[in-house]
This record gives sequence, structure tokens and C-alpha cells, in this order.
Amino acid sequence: MRILVLHGPNLNLLGKREPEIYGTLSLDDINGALEALGAEFEAVLGFFQSNSEGALVDAIQQAPEKYDGILINPAAYTHTSVALRDALAAIGLPFVEVHLSNIHRREEFRHHSFLAPLALGQICGFGLDSYLLGLRALFNHIKN
Ligand code: DQA
Repeated sequence: MRILVLHGPNLNLLGKREPEIYGTLSLDDINGALEALGAEFEAVLGFFQSNSEGALVDAIQQAPEKYDGILINPAAYTHTSVALRDALAAIGLPFVEVHLSNIHRREEFRHHSFLAPLALGQICGFGLDSYLLGLRALFNHIKN
């Protein structure tokens, strides 16, 4: 099984960026932990981070050629991007939406996700564990 891990804007700054909200792990730390869990499942993971909405749309459009599902932290585009939603709807691959922070107990503009209605599920508020739980759920869904 192959899973694409997508990270949205500003997640390249993890570790330095508002650590009181997002923690001190870097994006490489998160990707490393995902890779280790993926190896337990014998899943092959691909990773892509971009600050550009268009680059993320391109990655989603190309995903069905290589991947069985997508684990995505759309970051700020969660709350703004019809384009990401439409791309995910177009390809139809199963995906799980994750967030490090609990977006539902933050500012009101973060409460809405354009992507969540299409997702298998949304996991937020658990830092690295949001990603690990999301990967596990996506893997089990695809396997079954
Ligand atoms: C985030 C939450 C978003 O609201 C925010 O814009 C981010 C990160 C999270 O992982 O908690 O950039 O997706």
C-alpha cells in the first residue's frame, strides 16, 4: 500500500513556529515518525509540503497514479480552499484530515473545514499523534 502525506502552508516552519500551539517537533521529525509507523504496516509513504495552493492541487491530481490514499494536514487552506476540496473530490481517493492543534477550540475562523465533509474523518488536537492516528485509520480503511 502507498500513502501520500501532504502538508500545507507554514508547516515547513514546525519546531520554530508558535511552539506553544504546534509543539517543538520539526516537519522532518513528524515525517520520520510516520515513516516508522508506515514500515510496521509495510506501507510505502510519499511526503510533500508546499506553501502554494496550486502545488498542492497538482500533487492531489497526480496522486491516483501512485497512491492508494492521502493523509493531509491542509493547514490554513483547510479554512479557505475550495480548490483543494474540488481536487480531492475529483480524484476520489480516501483521505484523512489531520491537525496538530484542536481547531475547534481556537478562533472561530478555524472551526470550519472545506475538506472535512469529504474526508473519512478528521483528527485534531493531538500533535504528532493526530498524524499517527490518522495514518493508522487510513491504513485500516484501505486494507479492509
Ligand atoms: C493546523 C491548524 C490550522 O488552523 C493552521 O492554519 C495551521 C496548522 C494544525 O495542524 O493545527 O497552519 O492545520
